[in-house]
Amino acid sequence: MRTQVVIVGSGPAGLLLGQLLEKAGIATILLEQKSKDYVLGRIRAGVLEQGAVALLDEAGAGARLHREGLVHEGTEIAFSGVRHRIDFKALTGKTVTVYGQTEATRDLMDARAALGAPSIYEALDVSLHDLESERPRVRYAKDGKNFEIACDHVAGCDGFHGVSRRSIPEERLRTYERVYPFGWLGILVDKPPVSEELIYVNHARGFALCSMRSMTRSRYYLQCRLDEHVEDWPDDKFWEELARRLDPEAAKNLQTGASIEKSIAPLRSFVAEPMRYGNLFLAGDAAHIVPPTGAKGLNLAASDIAYLSAALIERYKKGSSAGLEAYPQKALARIWKAERFSWWMTQMLHRFPESSGFDQKMQGAELDYLFSSKAAQTALAENYVGLPY
Ligand code: APR
Ligand code: PHB
Repeated sequence: MRTQVVIVGSGPAGLLLGQLLEKAGIATILLEQKSKDYVLGRIRAGVLEQGAVALLDEAGAGARLHREGLVHEGTEIAFSGVRHRIDFKALTGKTVTVYGQTEATRDLMDARAALGAPSIYEALDVSLHDLESERPRVRYAKDGKNFEIACDHVAGCDGFHGVSRRSIPEERLRTYERVYPFGWLGILVDKPPVSEELIYVNHARGFALCSMRSMTRSRYYLQCRLDEHVEDWPDDKFWEELARRLDPEAAKNLQTGASIEKSIAPLRSFVAEPMRYGNLFLAGDAAHIVPPTGAKGLNLAASDIAYLSAALIERYKKGSSAGLEAYPQKALARIWKAERFSWWMTQMLHRFPESSGFDQKMQGAELDYLFSSKAAQTALAENYVGLPY
């Protein structure tokens, strides 16, 4: 087969790129190793910057988001049993939208199907060839048959464990990583959220987060040790521990129930450079991971795609490769700022097993400074709502 751009991965990055290119008249073929249902079965975060919302609109996948998404003008941070509100709207004029990543992925899949653009699910053993040539080729197996697609460019949107980054010779790739000594135990429950806005909690027993998917479905997280298992945390134990970490009013308002999903996720900061190898371009989790404390994962995938789609459209519409040349540096400049913000939020809000008395005093002083300084709150707010593209 032959196409212009092969997209590997049907997560938000790959689907968003597919929409923006197809709508610009550029042909794409999307390959995904899993089935559609499997991809939609993954529970992921759900806080969207205004830039990501605008891109979903441009991709023709924003209608349900505007109907069902929750616009938040601020968030709360709790410390020593007291909640402090960070007013994004007053400090930056901007807001965020709470809308599950799974829902955004479903909307993008529907939008692609509506365009009739080709997607091959359960495409196995995807491999990339001749990436440094003008005619890269992508191979995959489906229903026991082998296929090959010739193209101009390959977009590696296949996440952290994908084949794309692994197709770049090690000597051409530089990686940066920080693995945190704890995880997030998360549950999903069909109960009204404990509060209108998200609550990030720094507590002596560890971090906690109160989030939501709607006004009837809530998402809660507890910092846990990496050697713990979901089986160690029956629902009652989870609710009891969460209530202990919340301020008295939130603990009183907490509506508990049977969890419909429960999982533990490790926390990691990771960046791979460069985000290009010949005619292979990495985007999203294939090139970078952030700890979820800053709610930046999906939003970074979106900004990568804003840059990469514009560069590819410039290539096909104006015959200029200037955008493709600049893509890695441009994307990494925004990525490293979001990596810093996510690392800083993680440092400030979690209990580190090895932390000394001095470390804890530093954390306390950081939070006291944040709560007493409009400048510090503005810095947090402008990063949380999303730095300019
Ligand atoms: N061949 C084909 N598809 C693959 C392969 C492969 N070898 N390896 C992985 N994939 C698919 C995965 O099954 C997945 O559906 O690539 C897709 C990658 O999607 P995501 O992991 O969602 O990555 P991305 O689109 O970059 O979205 C980043 O996802 O994990 C969250 O917090 C993260 O919000 C961020 C967002
Ligand atoms: C979530 O709703 O799952 C969520 C929200 C904010 C975060 C992380 C996760 O920082």
